[in-house]
Amino acid sequence: MLNFIASSDPKIWSAIKGELARQRSGLEMIASENFASPAVLETMGTVLTNKYSEGYPGKRYYGGNEFIDICEQLAIDRAKALFGAEHVNVQSHAGSQANLSAYAAILKAGDKVLAMDLACGGHLTHGAKVSFTGKNYQFQHYGVDKDTERLDYDKILFTAQEVRPKLIVAGASAYPRQINFSKFRQIADAVGAYLMVDMAHIAGLVAAKLHPDPIAVADIITTTTHKTLRGPRGAMILCALNDRLDPEGKKNLAQKIDSSVFPGSQGGPLDHVIAAKAVSLHEALQPSFVDYQKSVLANTAALGSALAAAGIRLVTGGTDNHLLLLDLNSINITGGEAEKLLDQAGFFTNKNMIPNDPRKPTDPSGLRLGGAALTTRGLTATDFASIGTTMANLLKNPTNSSALKEAKELATHLTQAYPLYPELNYDR
Ligand SMILES: Cc1ncc(COP(=O)(O)O)c(C=O)c1O
Repeated sequence: MLNFIASSDPKIWSAIKGELARQRSGLEMIASENFASPAVLETMGTVLTNKYSEGYPGKRYYGGNEFIDICEQLAIDRAKALFGAEHVNVQSHAGSQANLSAYAAILKAGDKVLAMDLACGGHLTHGAKVSFTGKNYQFQHYGVDKDTERLDYDKILFTAQEVRPKLIVAGASAYPRQINFSKFRQIADAVGAYLMVDMAHIAGLVAAKLHPDPIAVADIITTTTHKTLRGPRGAMILCALNDRLDPEGKKNLAQKIDSSVFPGSQGGPLDHVIAAKAVSLHEALQPSFVDYQKSVLANTAALGSALAAAGIRLVTGGTDNHLLLLDLNSINITGGEAEKLLDQAGFFTNKNMIPNDPRKPTDPSGLRLGGAALTTRGLTATDFASIGTTMANLLKNPTNSSALKEAKELATHLTQAYPLYPELNYDR
C-alpha cells in the first residue's frame, strides 16, 4: 500500500524511508518514545481516517458510523478493563489536549492549580508560563527536595494548605522515581481539591501493575498512548463517575469530561488513531505485556547501574521506573553537548533540566534516558549495561576518536542484532 506514495509523492516517500532507516540504525533512548507494533501502524493507515464521527458511540452527529462505533467502543472497553477505570474518553488527540480538556471540565479561568514545576520534571501543560495552561489558570508549583531530589509529600501538603488550589496535578515528564498517588489523595482531601494524575510516561507500568495505581485514588487521570503504553500517538482521559466536589451537579464527572473533549475542545475524532488505540490496548491486555514492562524496569536499572559505576551522577541516585536523569555536571559536559555527541554515535537521547539546574533550559545540565523503546526491540539487561559503559566512556572523553568509534560500533552491532520492523520492506 505504501508504494502508492512512492509514485505520487516521491519526496515524502523518501523522507519516510529515511526515517525508517534512522529508527533502525540508532539506539533510541528518548524516554517518551517507543515503537508501536506493525498492527498498530497498519491500523493508522486505513480508511477509518475518512470518516467524520463527532459525538460518541451511539450518539453521533453524522450517519454511517456503525463501524467507527465498534472501534471506539472496543477502545473504551479495553482501556476500562486494562486500568479498571469507571469511565474512559479515548478521543483526545494528544497528551496536551487531554490535559486542556481535563482542566476545562472542572476549572474556570483564573482558578488555582498546584502542579509539579517544569524545572523539576513537570510538563509544559502543568502550568508553564509559555503554555495556554499557565496563561489561563493560576498555577503554583511544588518541586522536589533539594537533597534527596524526590517529592516531599509533607512539603507539598504545606504548600497546598497555603495555596488552597481547586486542583492538584500529580505526574511528570522527567522524574525517575515512583509517585505515591495515595499521598497526593490525602493532600487533595486535606484542602478540598480535585486530584488529577497525568500518567503519560508511566501508563504502561501502571497497566502492568508495576507502579502504584492512580486509578482508585484520582478524580481524573490523563495519559498519552504512545510512550510506555506503546500505542499510536494520542491520549485518553480516565475518570471516576462521581464528581467529588459537585455531587449534586447536573452532570457527573464523566459527562463533564466528555463534553469538555467534544464539543468543548475538539471536533471530529481521529478514528484511525482511536482504532489503533484499541489494537494497542488489546496488546497491553496480553500477559506478554507485563513481561515487557518488567524488562523495561530491569533494563533501565541496568543502564543506570553501569553509568553510575562509571562515575556519572544519577538524579535521586537511581531509578524505579522507565527513565533516568543524568547530572552531567559530574563530568563537565553540558546536556546539549552530550545529546549532540551521542547523536553522532547513534545513541538517541535528550537534554533535560535537572532539579535546581545551575544552567539555562536551552543547554541544561542533564540528559534524560529511557529504556522502553530498546526493550521493545529486544535488548537485554546485559546490552543495556554495555550501552551504559560505552556511553559513559564517550561522555567523559568527548574529543577521543576511539571512544566515538567504539560507541558507533556498539550501536551498529546492537541495531543489527535486534532488527527493527523486519516485516516492513519499503524497498519493494
Ligand atoms: C507528563 C506529560 N503529560 C503530557 C504530555 C503531552 O503529550 P503530547 O506531546 O502528546 O501533547 C507529555 C509529553 O511528553 C508528558 O510527558
